[in-house]
Amino acid sequence: MSEPVWQRGDLLGVAELSRAEILHLLDTAESFVEVAARPIKKVPTLRGKTVINLFFEPSTRTSSSFEIAEKRLSADNINFSTSSSSLSKGETLLDTARNLEAMAPDLVVIRHAHPRVPHALAERLASGVINAGDGAHEHPTQALLDAFTIRRRKGRVEGLKVAIVGDIAHSRVVRSNVLCLTKLGADVTVAGPRPMMPEEPESLGARVVYSLDEAIEGADVVMMLRVQLERQARAAFPSEREYFEFFGLTAERLHRANDGAIVMHPGPINRGIEIASDVADGPWSVILEQVANGVAVRMAVLYLLAGTKSGEDGATP
Ligand code: CP
Repeated sequence: MSEPVWQRGDLLGVAELSRAEILHLLDTAESFVEVAARPIKKVPTLRGKTVINLFFEPSTRTSSSFEIAEKRLSADNINFSTSSSSLSKGETLLDTARNLEAMAPDLVVIRHAHPRVPHALAERLASGVINAGDGAHEHPTQALLDAFTIRRRKGRVEGLKVAIVGDIAHSRVVRSNVLCLTKLGADVTVAGPRPMMPEEPESLGARVVYSLDEAIEGADVVMMLRVQLERQARAAFPSEREYFEFFGLTAERLHRANDGAIVMHPGPINRGIEIASDVADGPWSVILEQVANGVAVRMAVLYLLAGTKSGEDGATP
């Protein structure tokens, strides 16, 4: 008998995932899409499971998407943030996590400003751990929902030309996306101003250019990244006007991309800095589809991980 494709109890990064695991996860997410169209948006798949959401950095999309995914799967969930927990009284993260684990959750979802905090927790906790973004390191569920959105829109990922443009140095989204899209056979180019590139940009595993126009020439997918003003990115360019002039995506520039190209952005958007409003809201944009698809992808992640940890294969959707 062949081994099941999915055997992981944690989702820490795309780096660890094989192409077969990514495809299995995307296929599983397909089966959850229709739940959002039901009058009663709920399946009993994770009834009796408990999920703790620990967000130590701000989040709108990822935190609400996980929470909705958990509720649609009938899991019980609780949410912690730095300000509402005893971390604000000086308790260490590990002590907080150990105390929460004493209440026997099945899964812990964590976002933290420091790279590899989810990995450290996964080594110490019996519960499954899901990385919801760790510093500038990885954001695996964002990359998976991006790949899912591309595959739904284009029918495939293999062979597509994908341009990822902007604040490459500070972006966990680019790291996870380059890993995910290249494993699925896409031809990925990253572009940004030199001060917003990491020290060894080639180590990302994509073609590197320093011009928006060059990156999007012939692209099937244009993914714009948020200028991370909170991660010292402002010092990397003289003014927002100048950034937009050289690296802002406008409708005029988009004509360099292939016919039918789609425009993506992980959000939150800085309108008028990395993307013009008429592009973000225009016919090329799949930005809100990314958000909608994120719920189905996170349902798939929760379903696969909960089944693995508990040793049960939960009820199918
Ligand atoms: N894409 C993303 O991670 O958005 P949030 O920071 O709002 O979660």
